[in-house]
Amino acid sequence: MAKFITFEGVDGAGKSTHLNWFANTLRGRGIDLLVTREPGGTPLGEKLREILLHEPMHGETEALLMFAARREHIEQVIKPALQRGTWVISDRFTDASFAYQGGGRGVPVEKLEQLERWVQGSLQPDLTLLFDIPVEVARERLNKNVAQTNIALDKFEQEKSEFFDRVRNAYLARAQKSPARYAIIQAEKIPAEVKEKLQEIILSV
Ligand code: TYD
Repeated sequence: MAKFITFEGVDGAGKSTHLNWFANTLRGRGIDLLVTREPGGTPLGEKLREILLHEPMHGETEALLMFAARREHIEQVIKPALQRGTWVISDRFTDASFAYQGGGRGVPVEKLEQLERWVQGSLQPDLTLLFDIPVEVARERLNKNVAQTNIALDKFEQEKSEFFDRVRNAYLARAQKSPARYAIIQAEKIPAEVKEKLQEIILSV
């Protein structure tokens, strides 16, 4: 059966680079798969992404818009793909709302759980790769990227270290609630070591 896999972690954990490698390796094994992202993944979701990443707003407004984009993403992209046997890899999904809006902005977990039930029903990722990294290391990486690429930091990336500490802890707390769904990756390790771990995970999916 087609699998739904998500990648998560604080900004600067390096998940996007590893996601591409992971997806290509699975494709190399003959698996039909689609890579998508949140917020985004649909034309409407991408418009909401622009707003979410740049416009200041109340934490609950942010949560509602994240889940609105997600509703569209599930309906238009994720469910149809899984139904036709295509695997889906999403760069972030609902765990990010619990981490950023819950942990980061202080939106109560019960409210997020209500939205999760409403928007997803019983849909959950089969596997979530959580790239865990000390916040200072992640921030160094982000700053280096900015210096090298000249791309400005978005609204979330500009948050203080304490925000990211809360995000990281909320991710870990959520992973503790349903450990079977998560593979926690020590993302401060050198890329070759991270890849070795990913290779192990690929063999088990
Ligand atoms: P990110 O995935 O890091 O993309 P890029 O690597 O291109 O910068 O950016 C998405 C941002 O959105 C990230 O800072 C986390 C945030 N986010 C939330 O706050 N809540 C959510 O539910 C999702 C999906 C993302």
